[in-house]
Amino acid sequence: MRDRMNKIDFSTSYRTHSCGCLRKENIGEMVKLVGWIRYMRDHGGAKFIDLCDREGCTQVVFEEGTFKDMETVEHLGKEYVIGVEGKVRKRPEGTEDPENPTGEIEVLVEKMKIISKSKLSPFELIEEKRSLLPSMELRLEYRFLDLRRREMVENLWLRNEVMREVREFFWERGFWEIETPYLVKSTPEGARDFVVPVRAIPGTFFALPQSPQLYKQLLMISGFDRYFQLARCFRDEDLREDRQPEFTQIDVEMSFVEREDILNLIEELIERLWKKLLNFEDVRFRRMKFDEAMEKYGTDKPDTRYGMEIKDVTDTVKNVGYRIFKRAIENGARVKCLRADGLHRKGFTSKDAQKLIDFIIKKLKGKGMTWLIVEDGDLKSVPQSIANSFGEKVRKELIRSMGAKDGDILMFVVDEEYHSLNMMGEIRKLVGSKWKVDLKKKWSFVWLIDPPYFERDQYGNTLNKPSHHPFTAPLEMSIEYLERPREEIYANAYDLVINGVEVGGGSIRIHLPNVQRKIFELLGYTEEEMRERFGFLLRALEYGAPPHGGIAIGLDRLVAMMKGKEDIRDFIAFPKTKSFRSPVDDSPSRIDEEKLRELGIIILRE
Ligand code: AMO
Repeated sequence: MRDRMNKIDFSTSYRTHSCGCLRKENIGEMVKLVGWIRYMRDHGGAKFIDLCDREGCTQVVFEEGTFKDMETVEHLGKEYVIGVEGKVRKRPEGTEDPENPTGEIEVLVEKMKIISKSKLSPFELIEEKRSLLPSMELRLEYRFLDLRRREMVENLWLRNEVMREVREFFWERGFWEIETPYLVKSTPEGARDFVVPVRAIPGTFFALPQSPQLYKQLLMISGFDRYFQLARCFRDEDLREDRQPEFTQIDVEMSFVEREDILNLIEELIERLWKKLLNFEDVRFRRMKFDEAMEKYGTDKPDTRYGMEIKDVTDTVKNVGYRIFKRAIENGARVKCLRADGLHRKGFTSKDAQKLIDFIIKKLKGKGMTWLIVEDGDLKSVPQSIANSFGEKVRKELIRSMGAKDGDILMFVVDEEYHSLNMMGEIRKLVGSKWKVDLKKKWSFVWLIDPPYFERDQYGNTLNKPSHHPFTAPLEMSIEYLERPREEIYANAYDLVINGVEVGGGSIRIHLPNVQRKIFELLGYTEEEMRERFGFLLRALEYGAPPHGGIAIGLDRLVAMMKGKEDIRDFIAFPKTKSFRSPVDDSPSRIDEEKLRELGIIILRE
């Protein structure tokens, strides 16, 4: 992916080239290289060293006739920094390394200098030994070593290239990168704030921004029209593989736009990244309404790389003898069915089914799952009595309506509408990721649009908090629209979902002060709370606010996604552990009494 050809001049007082750029065109040249000793081996009186830097590794050879002081070479150790001077030569026939861009040549060393020594690394840095990697905790403690590993270098290179492309993309289109403050008033994005005490005004605190949301809106009101920023955001929330307390957003805002303007713009950006950095040409987006995504995929983050759409089969099965369905349907539950293509053929067993059932009961608070095997054009089960209780007519109808073929499995869940869809969504995801082996190199790009304004819980109950943030415009920007029952109010918001992962989210914003007030009212804010928390926004909206909208894409998630990975820590130079620690500098840490006193802070609980 990375082109390490001789384009960039890495020469300094110490070297003529980087360790990654010599090729057969350089044969015969005298060169000076500096780098870290990654690997050493002896071969018939000669010593071979892989000398590495960020750009790559070059094999350097010490041979008795050419190099005078073989004794010092004996005492070199891995990760020593050395400088060598010598002649580039072709590697002998049969010893080339086609995997390594410098693999056709080696440098025959004439002079060598030890620049600095290294202790023994606590873990292997050679890429081939990746399986020997220690815990993330230890990797993060010695992050300066971990970052020498080729995989990490490539990850940070990709991140750098994405940042470069993003900046060029927006600058080409007249966007300005404007920095918004890090010391702010709390911005509600749904997480807790990290707070910063202010010595000059005892008892007061800034918050670190959860996102630049309100400031980019103020910039639109100021008339800056097209803004973007690679913005650092801070959120105190439970950490997961795809969540860090400190992360980066590609943050965008535009004036005089509607939803389609933003979606088209971001589609162009994603297309450019995938084409330029992944050589993937066929980027196709699908727009899907929230309700459709829930109905067909049981989630607001649909992965469309595989089919397995969910269907409601309540009407088909409502009169069968199978007691579990019968009773639940009588109590108003719905039966949802999923066709897992070829799963029986792929060896799905009762044991696998039991694992899924345990997951449904323990994690999803469901009652279980029924599964039937499609065989000889009929449905079978373990024990067979379950399939029998459906009766032949219903079995045939299920096979027909689900489009099932021999070797497939039909999975059923019965519960309240929304809960059963949610559970089916989880099952679909598990089955899709574990049993569909052909997902690599496939991409699913979905815009999830028209979500409900107020978040729903897993049972479909409408909660009293916005599903995006409270500055999001309702689908119709009017007070009348907001007087409808809550569950009928939708948001003019959109999420960018790639391969089933939410990579970005945004919305058209409210630019009318009365609509903004009404939303705050619906969310239960008193007049005083409104003034205290969002007074500055409400005031600005009174001074000629243009219609505006935007989006933020999680840069860490985007880059991880481009590499098909979920753990964003491998794409951040110095991330935190899941328990909020930064092992490399052993933070967070206590601060001394004196400083606390200065800030007027007393620690009540440790
Ligand atoms: P939202 O809260 O959806 O929207 O965030 C946008 C994107 O940021 C990424 N993200 C995270 N990445 C890593 N760690 C985290 N803790 C984390 N939290 C969020 C996700 C997410 O899709 N102001 C709005 C955007 C807007 O309306 O313009 C906002 O922040 O990829």
